[in-house]
Amino acid sequence: MAANADMCETPRSESQPPAKDDGLLRGFWYPALRSPQVRGRTLRCAMLLGIPLVLGRNDKGEAFALRDACPHRGMPLSEGRFDGEGIECSYHGWIFAAKSGQCRAVPSLTVRDKLKVERVFAASFPCEEQDGYFWVFISDPENRNEDVPPAPRLPVFSPEYCLEHLEAELPCHVDHGIIGLMDPAHGPFVHQAWWWRKRGSIHEKEKVFEPVPDGFRIRSHTPSSNSAAYKLLGVYGEPITTTIQFVLPNMRFEEIHCGKYWFSSRTTVTPITASRCRIDVCAAWNAFRRVPFMPAMLRFFGNRFVGQAVGLQYNPPLMLIDDADRPAKWYFQLKAAHLEARKTGQPPLHPIDGPTTLRWRS
Ligand code: FES
Repeated sequence: MAANADMCETPRSESQPPAKDDGLLRGFWYPALRSPQVRGRTLRCAMLLGIPLVLGRNDKGEAFALRDACPHRGMPLSEGRFDGEGIECSYHGWIFAAKSGQCRAVPSLTVRDKLKVERVFAASFPCEEQDGYFWVFISDPENRNEDVPPAPRLPVFSPEYCLEHLEAELPCHVDHGIIGLMDPAHGPFVHQAWWWRKRGSIHEKEKVFEPVPDGFRIRSHTPSSNSAAYKLLGVYGEPITTTIQFVLPNMRFEEIHCGKYWFSSRTTVTPITASRCRIDVCAAWNAFRRVPFMPAMLRFFGNRFVGQAVGLQYNPPLMLIDDADRPAKWYFQLKAAHLEARKTGQPPLHPIDGPTTLRWRS
C-alpha cells in the first residue's frame, strides 16, 4: 500500500457535530474540492457543513468520500494507507472499502471473536465528479431514505467551449455569502471598472422575477445597458439576452446568449463550517475564446466578495430593504419553507406566488 503524504488539518473546534440550529441545509449536493487536486491514489481532505471528509478516486476511477474518522476510535482515515481499493487505518489496521466504507479486515480478531466485520462501516457519502469538482451529497439526518438526485451540472450549449474556475474562502456564515450573490444594488459601488459599471451610471431598473422549484429566476431580458462587458457581445450583431436563477441550497446560475455565442456560469456558496464558507465560480463560454480577459474578469468579481466578508465575520445585525433586498428575503423564506416541508412531509410553500416585478436603482 502507498503511504498517504497528504495530511489534513482539522481544527478541533470545527470537527464537532454540527449544531441543530446552525442554519445549514442538509439533503443537497455541495462541491467539496476541485478534481485536479486528486491525483492517482492521493487522499485529500475537505470539510463540508462541519463534517471532516477524506476524498479520493479508487483504481476504477470512481470518486469516493468518507467521514475522515475511523469508526473504531476516530483516527483520521486520511492518515491511513490507500491501495486504490481500501483504506487501512493507521492506528489498528482496520481496512475499509473506499467507495462503500464497508470494513474488510480487523487484524486484531482471533478465531474466537464474534464481530461481524462486514457489518462495520466507515460513514460514506454519495460522491460524483462533475464540472471539475468532487461533489458530495450531505444527507439529511432526519430523512435517511431520501432519493439522491444527480449532482448539479453547469448548462453548456455547444460541444466546444472554455471552462474556468475560481474560488475564495469567506470568514462568515453561508447566508451572508448567498445574499451577496443575489444582491442587485451593489454593482455600481463594488464592481466599479471602466468596462463594467460606474457610480454615475446608476439608473432605475425593473425586472420580473418568477418562481421555480426551490428558487426563483429573473425572466429572460436584455442585460443592463450600463455594463460595457455586455456591450462587447454586441460586436456579434445579434440580440443579447440574459437569465439569472437562484436555487437552494446555494446556487446562482447566469446564462447570456447572443446568437450562437453564449456564456454560462454557476456560482455556489458552500458552508465549510457554521462560520466559514467558500465561493466557487464555474464559468463556460464560447465567445471570445482566444481573448484571455474572461479569467481576469472572474477574479475581479470574486475578490470584491472577499472584501465584503471581512465585515460580516462578526455577525452584525443586518437590514433588508424592499425592493433591492427582496431576493434575500425570498432566500430566507425558501429556506424556512424547505425545512418545514422536511418536517411535515408536505410540499414546500413557495414565497413567490407568480411573476413579481421588482424595482431598484443600480
Ligand atoms: S482507530 Fe482505526 S483501526 Fe483503530
